[in-house]
Amino acid sequence: MRIGVLTGGGDCPGLNAVIRAVVRKGVAVYGHEFVGFRDGWRGPVEGVSGPLGIDQVRGILPRGGTILGSSRTNPYKIEGGVDAIRKNLAALGVDALIAIGGEDTLGVAKKLTDEGIPVVGVPKTIDNDLNATDYTFGFDTAVTIASEAIDRLHTTAESHHRALVVEVMGRHAGWIALHSGLSGGANVILVPERPFDIEQVVKHVEHRFESHYAPIIVVAEGAMPSGGAEQLRNDKKDAFGHVQFGGIGTWLAAEIETRTGKESRAVVLGHVQRGGTPTAFDRVLATRFGLHAIDAVNDKDFGKMVALHGTAIVRVPIEEATAELKTVPPERYAEAEVFFG
Ligand code: F6P
Repeated sequence: MRIGVLTGGGDCPGLNAVIRAVVRKGVAVYGHEFVGFRDGWRGPVEGVSGPLGIDQVRGILPRGGTILGSSRTNPYKIEGGVDAIRKNLAALGVDALIAIGGEDTLGVAKKLTDEGIPVVGVPKTIDNDLNATDYTFGFDTAVTIASEAIDRLHTTAESHHRALVVEVMGRHAGWIALHSGLSGGANVILVPERPFDIEQVVKHVEHRFESHYAPIIVVAEGAMPSGGAEQLRNDKKDAFGHVQFGGIGTWLAAEIETRTGKESRAVVLGHVQRGGTPTAFDRVLATRFGLHAIDAVNDKDFGKMVALHGTAIVRVPIEEATAELKTVPPERYAEAEVFFG
């Protein structure tokens, strides 16, 4: 078979490990050939591809990012996008696709399979908010980077008697905040699933200062105060005239300083959480996903996604992953609340 591989959406440590495993097993065990599509769905839509063989995947296991490039192109938002994919796959002699991506990339994979273009999905997101899999690769790396940052911020916060707010990624789900906050010993963790009461946060901060320690507050970028988003806006406008919002971390640090009179700082970790080499856990998970994805293609088991259930890699219908997001359940948040204040 000739199989096309693509990576879509935000990059994620471990993408290259998946590509490597797919190609290594595909060539050595099954004798398949591969085509590397560039920049997510843009590759098959525009017919942009390159060779993908043993030589191309040599040495990429520990490398962050993706050798194939990525984009958020959605063929369903481009006129004639799906027809173009059909035409380009036929021209390149590609029989099937492996799409490595998050909700959007996998949503497209599912629709294409329904329309007769055979795709197998591999789940990817640092946010760990994809359903139907216990973990996605990239999450452990992001949590490790954030935990390391929190460790470092504890010492500077204590030296200066400051409150330090650490903003981590997670627009819709607070997994990175929860896990990095727990592993870094944060005094407050705020997640998008649970609107927070700013007065309660201030109480925890004051209590922490009273016990002669400086507080660390970990906040997911999508967390909101119970009053809603409106109170977060200010009048600043950017060069395009759009109303600016500095981010929840910045807002929170300013609010804590105003309400407690204690110096506060915000640290926004941003894309550093997605960059660089994957942890050993993510390399192993990504490699196992790749090995099982090529098995699924070889079995012509299309419309499926590989997933981690416990310690086993299984195949699930792609729609199980995209139907709804996996958010932090109340009982997991309650575990962390024991350490607040
Ligand atoms: O979905 C992964 C993610 O890293 C989110 O946590 C974050 O909100 C978003 O991507 C950022 O995307 P971009 O690369 O467009 O800045």
